[in-house]
Amino acid sequence: MEAERVVAAFEALPSADGLWSGLRSVVGNDTAIVVADGVIRWIGLPDAVPKDFAGLKTHDGGGALVTPGLVDCHTHLVYGGQRANEFAMRLAGASYEEIAEAGGGIVSSVRATREASEDELLASASHRLQSLLSEGVCAIEIKSGYGLALEHERKQLRVARRLAGTYGVTVCTTFLGAHALPPEYAGRSADYIDLVCNEMLPALAAEGLVDAVDVFCERIAFSLAETEQVFKAALALGLPVKLHAEQLSDMGGAALAARYGALSCDHIEHLSQAGIEAMREAGTVAVLLPGAFYTLRDTQLPPIAALRAAGVPMAVSTDHNPGTSPALSLLLMVNMACTLFRLTVPEAIDGVTVHAARALGLQETHGTLAVGRPANFVLWDLRDAAELAYWLGQRPVRTVVRQGKIALGINRP
Ligand code: NIG
Ligand code: FE
Repeated sequence: MEAERVVAAFEALPSADGLWSGLRSVVGNDTAIVVADGVIRWIGLPDAVPKDFAGLKTHDGGGALVTPGLVDCHTHLVYGGQRANEFAMRLAGASYEEIAEAGGGIVSSVRATREASEDELLASASHRLQSLLSEGVCAIEIKSGYGLALEHERKQLRVARRLAGTYGVTVCTTFLGAHALPPEYAGRSADYIDLVCNEMLPALAAEGLVDAVDVFCERIAFSLAETEQVFKAALALGLPVKLHAEQLSDMGGAALAARYGALSCDHIEHLSQAGIEAMREAGTVAVLLPGAFYTLRDTQLPPIAALRAAGVPMAVSTDHNPGTSPALSLLLMVNMACTLFRLTVPEAIDGVTVHAARALGLQETHGTLAVGRPANFVLWDLRDAAELAYWLGQRPVRTVVRQGKIALGINRP
C-alpha cells in the first residue's frame, strides 16, 4: 500500500521538460540542456541554444555544476537485519574468513533475509535506497544472494523490481544465487550449484527477474569450475555475467569471466597481469570497491597502475552490503577511490558515471549527458568538479533530474 502511494508520488513529480540554463560542465564550460518528453534533446553552450527551443519553460541552474546522474553498479541493497556485531568482532581481531567459517558472515544475513517478508525487505531497502538517491544516483544494480533458495532469492529480486517502480530509478537486477553455500547444503557444494543452474536461475529468468548473473568465486565461496558451470547456465539463457573476483586471493576468476564476455569483474585486489590482459581484450570493466577494502582494513591494493596502463575502464561503487561495506554514500566512495586507490578525480568521477553504466550494460542510456538519452542529471552546489571527491559527508546536491522528473531539489515549480 505504502509502495503504491509512493509510485503515485513519483508519477506526480514535476516534469523536467524545458530549457536548463546557468549550468557548468565538469570541465568548466557554461552549459545548457533542453529536455523534452523526459529526453535530452539538445546540449551545448547557452549562446547556441537553437531558436526552436527559445519559447520553452526555463529552469535556472544558478551556476550549478552539472554531471550525469550517478550510477551505483554493485550493490547488495536488499537484505534482512544488519551485522554490526561483526564490525565489533573484526575490531577485536577476527578476519572476514574467520567470521564466515564460524557461521557468521553472509550466512547470518541469509537467516535474517529468509525470516523477513517481501514488504519488510522493501521497507528496509527503500530506506537505504533513499540515501543513495539523495546523492544523485539515477541507476543502481541490486543483487540477490541472501536468499540462497528459490523463494527467498525471488523475494529479493521482486523487491529490487518494486524499488524501480516506486522510485523511478533504473534498477539492474543480478542473480547471485552462488554467493555462499546455504547451511542445508553443507558439504554438498556440487548439489547446490546444480540447483542454482538447473532450477533457481531458469525459474527466476523466466519470471523476468534477472538482468545478469554473478558468482562469488573465492576459497570461502565457490571454485573456478563451479563458477564456470554457473556462467554456462547464464549463457544458455542469454544472460550476461559478472564476477566477485580475486577479492581475497588470486583464483583466476577474472580471466575466466573475461572468456565469457563478462560485463565486469569486481573487487580484484589480487588481480594478476594475465587477468588484466584478459579483461582488456574482452572489454570487461574493473569495478573498484573501496568501501569493502576500507571496512575489512585490507592492505592489498587493486593493481590500479596496471589497469590504467592497459586501458581497462575502472568503475567505482559502494558494494553496499551488511557485512563488508555498509556504505550509503557513493560520493564517499569517490573520495576513497582517490585517497585509498590513488585514482585521479576525473577517473573517480568517470568511475561513478560512464564506466559504471558500462559495467551494467547501460552505456547507451546512462552515464553520460547526450542527446537522445533519458534525462538523468544532477546539479551540484559546487564551484569545482574536484569538490565531488573532496568533501567528506556533505551532500552538495542542488537538484536531481531522474527519468525526466525533478526528483529532488530546488528547481521544483
Ligand atoms: O561484495 N564478497 C562477497 N560478497 C559481498 C559481501 C557480502 C557479505 O559479507 O554479506 C561483497 O563484499
Ligand atoms: Fe559485492
